[in-house]
Amino acid sequence: MNLATDKLVPLVMALSVALLALTACNGNGNAVATAPAPRKQVLSMPAQVGQLAFFDKNLSSGKNMSCASCHDPQYAYGPPNSISVQLGSDLKQTGARAVPSLRYKESTPAFSEDAPNPDGVTSNSPGGGFMADGRAATLATQAGMPLLNPLEMNNPSKEAVVKAVQNGAYAGLFKQTFGANVFDNTDAAFDALGTAIQALETEDLSFHPYSSKYDLYVFNKIGGVLTPAERRGEVLFHSTGVTNCSGCHYTGANFNGNSGLMTDFTYQALGAPRNDRSIPNNPDPIPANDDPAYFDMGLCGPFRTDYMPAPGKAHPYCGMFKVPVLRNAATRGAFFHNGVLHSLEQVVNFYNTRDTNPEYWYPSHGDGTGKPQANPVWALQPTAVPGATVDKYNDLPPVQQGNVDEEVPMGTGEGGEKTRASGTKPRAAGSTPVMTPQQIADLVCFLGTLSDGYQPSSAPSASGRCVK
Ligand code: HEC
Ligand code: HEC
Repeated sequence: MNLATDKLVPLVMALSVALLALTACNGNGNAVATAPAPRKQVLSMPAQVGQLAFFDKNLSSGKNMSCASCHDPQYAYGPPNSISVQLGSDLKQTGARAVPSLRYKESTPAFSEDAPNPDGVTSNSPGGGFMADGRAATLATQAGMPLLNPLEMNNPSKEAVVKAVQNGAYAGLFKQTFGANVFDNTDAAFDALGTAIQALETEDLSFHPYSSKYDLYVFNKIGGVLTPAERRGEVLFHSTGVTNCSGCHYTGANFNGNSGLMTDFTYQALGAPRNDRSIPNNPDPIPANDDPAYFDMGLCGPFRTDYMPAPGKAHPYCGMFKVPVLRNAATRGAFFHNGVLHSLEQVVNFYNTRDTNPEYWYPSHGDGTGKPQANPVWALQPTAVPGATVDKYNDLPPVQQGNVDEEVPMGTGEGGEKTRASGTKPRAAGSTPVMTPQQIADLVCFLGTLSDGYQPSSAPSASGRCVK
């Protein structure tokens, strides 16, 4: 896409959102046949600057990459491809984490080690903040990070970024918004750019359209009737004994009163498999993982540095990543912080069989006793040898593996608090997984209702497998 069409996208999306809202219902709950002429959303001046900056490729070292290159509005502000980690502006190096969607970030509370849980019941724990490890305090400070990250937009200094704005097409609007002398102070101008981008992300409707089938279903039910499969999936999503999904992907009102973000903003250690070359035919291993001593441990670093473990010592936060918003997850092609999984079926199967069949997910070593056997098609490890030793939780150093979560559905939910270190009872290898294939299919159908841009009038409403 060139810059001109890049700029049009958010406007077009805002218009289609406004149209959808207008056609959905009137005050009496009846469908409205003809919509009034669409109105353009009026953004504040900082947000207008933010919009121009968000799509500005001149803000990268190679003048080839904008925020939208990785956070594409046509993909719910997530990546436009299924690659685990994206290439940076230098066109040589890739990042170390999967690109998240930027939708529904505006209600994220500030990071706190002692954050209250939105459910009002669960005890306080680390929660909130931006990035998978919460290291960015606000959307404004976050925006400065990709600009200066050598693996991303790769600018050598704040000065280089400010120069690009000053010499660019919207320098005038920037001065009008932030003061005639704003360019005199590099730090102040750089911070103003962050403020502008934050204003865009907070104001622009295309960052929080609430236009999924689920929204129609929850908020007015007109045109948003779930199919039997989707409805079964919704019930399962809330079942504490079977899936426990909503235990972390909280669906109630959050601190800002918005509903259904599918996160409680807490941090959990799921033990996602390491995205490296030990996965046969892995199309996109994370280059940093070539170093066996490198571990991405979320709250414990390496990108945030305030909870680093002492050498060789366990730290209770190692391996914890933020519970992501699940809206628009069905439009993604890379899942978890390291993008190691590539479909929703794989994700749900991982929850289901991480402990009952670790050989599906983690590499094995040793000869074992039996002949190689084929694993299911969705498994990361296509074959396993019975009796071989499986390197469970291989993306965490052994000393940190006690943090891995054993709540339902991964564990039995019995025993200690919720982690292995607290004495929970894991599901035994070889035992029967908690979810049936039908239940997994239903859950995936439900997750599909969380994608924005649902058109109630267009038929059929769900793909074949989600109808019955
Ligand atoms: C090269 C790809 C790339 C580019 C370009 C990029 N980002 Fe990101 N973005 C990422 C990745 C990867 C993460 C996750 C990083 C992490 O969790 O440590 C991320 C995370 C974020 C988050 C945090 C979301 C959350 O869930 O907390 C925000 C906000 C964001 N980016 C905004 C921006 C803005 C604004 C720009 C432009 C100034 C930008 N990004 C440019 C890759 C990119
Ligand atoms: C113990 C808390 C917890 C439970 C229970 C849980 N999740 Fe998650 N979920 C997380 C965390 C934390 C992540 C991010 C993990 C990471 O990045 O390594 C995640 C990630 C995901 C993702 C990937 C999203 C993305 O953008 O990468 C999906 C999809 C998902 N969960 C669906 C579910 C479903 C469906 C269930 C129920 C079967 C469920 N989760 C149960 C905590 C939980």
